Amino acid sequence: MDHSGWLKRYRLKPHLPRHVAIIMDGNGRWAKKRHLPRIAGHRAGALSIREIVRLSGQLGLTALTLYAFSTENWKRPRKEVSLLMQLLKQYLRSEVAELLQNNVRLGTIGNTGDLPREIQEELKNAIQITSRCTGLNLILALSYSGRADLTEAVRKIAKKVKSGKIKLASVREETIAKELSTKNLPEVDLLIRTSGEMRISNFLLWELAYSEFHVTKTLWPDFRTPHFIAAIRDFQKRQRRFGGVESVVGSVISWAR
Ligand code: FPP
Repeated sequence: MDHSGWLKRYRLKPHLPRHVAIIMDGNGRWAKKRHLPRIAGHRAGALSIREIVRLSGQLGLTALTLYAFSTENWKRPRKEVSLLMQLLKQYLRSEVAELLQNNVRLGTIGNTGDLPREIQEELKNAIQITSRCTGLNLILALSYSGRADLTEAVRKIAKKVKSGKIKLASVREETIAKELSTKNLPEVDLLIRTSGEMRISNFLLWELAYSEFHVTKTLWPDFRTPHFIAAIRDFQKRQRRFGGVESVVGSVISWAR
């Protein structure tokens, strides 16, 4: 079935967000409610990832960025961090064939150099294998910090100014955007956060400037197709003005920025 077939099946309007970002929260609470260890919540969360990635590809989204591991997550108990890393490794190994089959191209943002070497290898492999895919861009934010990404961008720009490569007066918003790890991705149109928390948690600080927010009480392991469709329907109901007065429908409207 092509993208429009899927849109019809889910009774969605044609104007979709191009780029959806998700703060996947609530795995621990999901497990606690069931008297299970936290890792059981993360494991169930990985199944939600599989379903949402497949659906995003079917609908024809350009990019899906998932907050899989923040720099703050390193502060969790060693055991949990190590189990999360194992899960990530398993995910990459078991999902690569499915990604390829669904024409999904994998990418990352964040300091992946902080990850265990074997994960780095697994990532490199999955990124290389899916590099020719032309459908959805799946971006995993790993050891990611929005502030760190901005700090790094500032450092790179300062270096260029210092060496005379660019003039201080020519530093514009685009200069910064071009130095961020998200530089090749469209603007984030929709941010989804599960488990009801009203925080950005150091995610895409610059990139969320004009995003629509959809916060749901649903815990991430319970977040499946109907919840994602509801989030997109919610997005489709919004009137996006980008700070102006025009009512604009659609995703990337550069003149309005
Ligand atoms: C938050 O739940 C979730 C994370 C720590 C990141 C998301 C991780 C997964 C979905 C696991 C699988 C990941 C991959 C890429 C295979 P939490 O532990 O903060 O939940 P809580 O707030 O209820 O404790």
